[in-house]
Amino acid sequence: MSDTILVGAATIRAALELAVRAPSVHNTQPWRWRIRPGAVELHADRFRHLAATDPDRRDLQLSCGAALHHLRAAFAGTDVACDVDLLPDPENRFHLATVRPVAGAPEPALRRMAPWITRRRTDRRRMSRRPAPPELLDALVARAGTEGARLVPVVEPGKRAVLLAALAEAATLQRTHPGYAAELQRWTHRPTAAQDGVPAANVSAPPIGTSAALVQRQFGPAGLSRAPARPGHHPDVDDGAVFLVLLTVGDSTVERVRAGQATSAVLLTATGMGLATTPFSQAVEVHASRLRLRRDVLGVADQPQLVIRVGWPAAGAAPLPDVPRRPLSAVLVEPDTRRPRGA
Ligand SMILES: Cc1cc2nc3c(=O)[nH]c(=O)nc-3n(C[C@H](O)[C@H](O)[C@H](O)COP(=O)(O)O)c2cc1C
Repeated sequence: MSDTILVGAATIRAALELAVRAPSVHNTQPWRWRIRPGAVELHADRFRHLAATDPDRRDLQLSCGAALHHLRAAFAGTDVACDVDLLPDPENRFHLATVRPVAGAPEPALRRMAPWITRRRTDRRRMSRRPAPPELLDALVARAGTEGARLVPVVEPGKRAVLLAALAEAATLQRTHPGYAAELQRWTHRPTAAQDGVPAANVSAPPIGTSAALVQRQFGPAGLSRAPARPGHHPDVDDGAVFLVLLTVGDSTVERVRAGQATSAVLLTATGMGLATTPFSQAVEVHASRLRLRRDVLGVADQPQLVIRVGWPAAGAAPLPDVPRRPLSAVLVEPDTRRPRGA
């Protein structure tokens, strides 16, 4: 461990402002932060857990992991290196990480990602028919690897077809799952003041007359226009986008937080390359589809954590609107002023 350094309050707040730009399931922003002398703590916000959509809490833990990686990148962008302890308190499983600014130079790759935080968006539209070149996909795979996760591009046509079938199956099964529709309704119809949830302006509707099975999560109100599907072509997948599956060896909370950090690293790196990205989590939320991913698509014992779609934006695609985030005042926990036990 390196020596902890004290960083000014303004630097910490600026880094947290960027950390909360992290992607999260349904834009629930399921995190709480506590600033302590020499450290920032990340806590999962159990009241923002989607119990019906995400019964395993995988999405919640991945979302927090993504925010943790965003914080590391944001600190690196101001030349601050960090040490991170995952699950530092055995008596509190919601305390996911403690980040300590330390002496020394931050990782150059992390520092490069900082400016991409405000440029990244979840892009659910049809992408270009021109696929991302293999060397860029290799770079994304390497980035996931440095965060302790495995990213596998599913490019072989037969495997891709099985993956798409698993995505469509998950979307169909989940629609009738008790509580799923209510959660979707709640998180797509948020009052403006809530500054969370998925706005219609970032969701595109399937083209009228579509009969193909839909592989994307259907969010309801859709205000985002996209190019019409060509007759006879699939509305969501008949473009050059590549689907990649993010895996970890085990499925503990620590591994899911690592997978979340890898997600952030992959999405930010792709953004820096000019690529568009969409996280897809339905196939890991539904047990039967998750099993199909492991067994029939990948043939591995590893644990699928997320599917990520990557491609060039379609020619002439308009910039996507910013998705709201809650202000820091809503996610900061007051410093713990209780006296230590026995004092
Ligand atoms: C763990 C996780 C799961 C997600 N699952 C999906 C999904 O299944 N479908 C989708 O369109 N977006 C999904 N997203 C993207 C979020 O909806 C998105 O991050 C959020 O609405 C904020 O928008 P932004 O990414 O553009 O900032 C997921 C994100 C995370 C981190």
